[in-house]
Amino acid sequence: MLTMETNISKIRQDFPALKRLVRGRDLVYLDNAATTLKPQSVIDAITHYYTDLSSNVHRGVHFLSEESTARFEEAREKVSQFISARQSAEIVFTRGTTDAINLVSQSYGKTFIKSGDEILITEMEHHSNIVSWQILCKEKGCVLKVAPITDEGELVMDEFEKLIGPKTKMIALVYVSNVLGTINPVKDIIRLAHERNIPVLIDGAQAVGQFPVDVVDLDCDFFAFSAHKMFGPTGVGVLYAKAEYLNLMPPIQGGGDMILSVSFDKTTYNTIPYKFEAGTPNIAGVIGLGAAVEYINQLGFESIVQHEKDISAYLTQSLGEVEGLKIIGRAKNKVPIASFVLDHVHPHDIGTIIDEEGVAVRTGHHCAQPLMSRYGLPATARASFSLYNTKEEVDILIKAIEKVKAVFK
Ligand code: ALA
Repeated sequence: MLTMETNISKIRQDFPALKRLVRGRDLVYLDNAATTLKPQSVIDAITHYYTDLSSNVHRGVHFLSEESTARFEEAREKVSQFISARQSAEIVFTRGTTDAINLVSQSYGKTFIKSGDEILITEMEHHSNIVSWQILCKEKGCVLKVAPITDEGELVMDEFEKLIGPKTKMIALVYVSNVLGTINPVKDIIRLAHERNIPVLIDGAQAVGQFPVDVVDLDCDFFAFSAHKMFGPTGVGVLYAKAEYLNLMPPIQGGGDMILSVSFDKTTYNTIPYKFEAGTPNIAGVIGLGAAVEYINQLGFESIVQHEKDISAYLTQSLGEVEGLKIIGRAKNKVPIASFVLDHVHPHDIGTIIDEEGVAVRTGHHCAQPLMSRYGLPATARASFSLYNTKEEVDILIKAIEKVKAVFK
């Protein structure tokens, strides 16, 4: 295991994008909640697939296809162990978190949630965990309930509990808010839900890769995440679901690989997880995800978590010293994501001016418009940190914000 403090410059060498200059300056990449940079080992794994394997999976008896299939299934096994699933059959590859949540709403939801039933989410959800359920509500006549948050950006737990009733048939919530950085007490919520026999879906997009996730310990029924927020490629993600649910759920896409036999009279579906993986999958993406898991395993979560705690504390303290700056999201338990607004300056102007200094942040509503409304804001600027970011980069961000203030004085 590497010690993060002593090896941060070595870790930075793993990420080729950090070597490039932006507007003549060293890149300060603080948009990790949108997507993380990719280490060379992930890029190499993808290149290796296209260079040396470049064949389909689960279909060929020829050498290359067998090798592609072996790499693809090894990645499933790595992902399964990474989140401590009971078996790799519980790992369904998807296009990402959004695709995974939609798979649950369109398969489980359409089959088991009826008119008048309730789905409980929270005020801090990403659009993917709002709109997918709204589509279901429109189709089935079920009702979306929304649990409130405090001004600090934490769930109001007694209100949350009051919203769980006899009609609640699904609780779906984010583990870590992409805007506030809040880490929600999902284990407690899952326990509350299970006491009432309600399944729980966790949107784990901002959690996986930040700290260890153990789906058996959490006891969640569904867990969705994306490769690209944990140093893997875009366009690939995972739906973890307990086998008992996957076995009950119908496929929502028909096509190759998801069947055992097809005739015009009757089709029988493949076993899990293949039943949900119709068509040629993102093979290079899945292999790249496997390499991302290996990369994280090699660093070890202990040092990643410690580094992110240190950065988070330094970031909060440094931003707190900037006059006229307000941090949106001050939960006690949070990851190094800081959304903020500056008096009299639109967040897009903040983003544009600090970009001149080589600092990349995201500005806008962050695909969480109802959360913006909760705070009475159209948008925020958001700096989000990862394992390769340094305290020096926090200082550069602060200096860049001071420049913004000077422009708008
Ligand atoms: N959901 C991603 C973000 O928060 C894209 O930026």
